[in-house]
Amino acid sequence: MFITFEGIDCCGKTTQAGLLVEGLREAGYPVIFTHEPGGTEIGEKIRHLLLNRENSQMVWLTELFLYLASRAQHTAELIHPAIQQGKILVCDRYTDSTLAYQGYGRGLNQKLIHQLNQVATGGLTPQLTFLIDIPPQVGIQRKASKDRLESEGSTFHRKVRKGYLESAGKDPQRFCIINGSRGIQEIHREIMTTTLGRLKARDSLISAKQSRLS
Ligand SMILES: Nc1ncnc2c1ncn2[C@@H]1O[C@H](COP(=O)(O)OP(=O)(O)OP(=O)(O)O)[C@@H](O)[C@H]1O
Ligand SMILES: [Mg+2]
Repeated sequence: MFITFEGIDCCGKTTQAGLLVEGLREAGYPVIFTHEPGGTEIGEKIRHLLLNRENSQMVWLTELFLYLASRAQHTAELIHPAIQQGKILVCDRYTDSTLAYQGYGRGLNQKLIHQLNQVATGGLTPQLTFLIDIPPQVGIQRKASKDRLESEGSTFHRKVRKGYLESAGKDPQRFCIINGSRGIQEIHREIMTTTLGRLKARDSLISAKQSRLS
């Protein structure tokens, strides 16, 4: 099972992904927790390039290719093998971030980004994506100190939020939209319930297949 967390800056992705990982581990599931950009040694070097304020000269295409390069490494080195081994992989940001930020936010060609995402991931798609949705103002209030991307104003984040919601509308099976303006524990309970429900459905499907085969 491959689970991703998405949403605009400071919506609560890292907080909620961490709580889900803790909850799943307590329930006895083998879980790997990772994030993008980064997640591998090479990916962390790329993350540093992307988030370094000194790189304000970086053009949008360079930014796009760096995100994709980090993702290609991450998928091949960590995500794909973990899923093959039957582990649950929880990832803080993935392909939907690139479409929302570089596509909707920056205005780069969305179809091209989709195709490049496919190339970078070898077509690997999450089974469940939590889109934590908040108004941009809430995110801006939550964090005063901002890195290079986070210093974008609320107009940029409005576009990114719209992009995320459009992506979710196109794939309601995969996306679960979470109202992120509520308390941390209330949000966590909803995410935990949804995930356990999906895992149980998956497990009963697997055992039904196994009993048909035996
Ligand atoms: N539901 C919530 N209500 C109030 N504050 C929250 C909530 N969830 C997270 N926070 C706080 O908001 C800040 C950002 O949270 P977090 O780092 O989890 O967001 P994020 O989406 O991972 O941010 P980024 O996009 O920068 O990675 C933190 O200080 C966190 O404690
Ligand atoms: Mg985070």
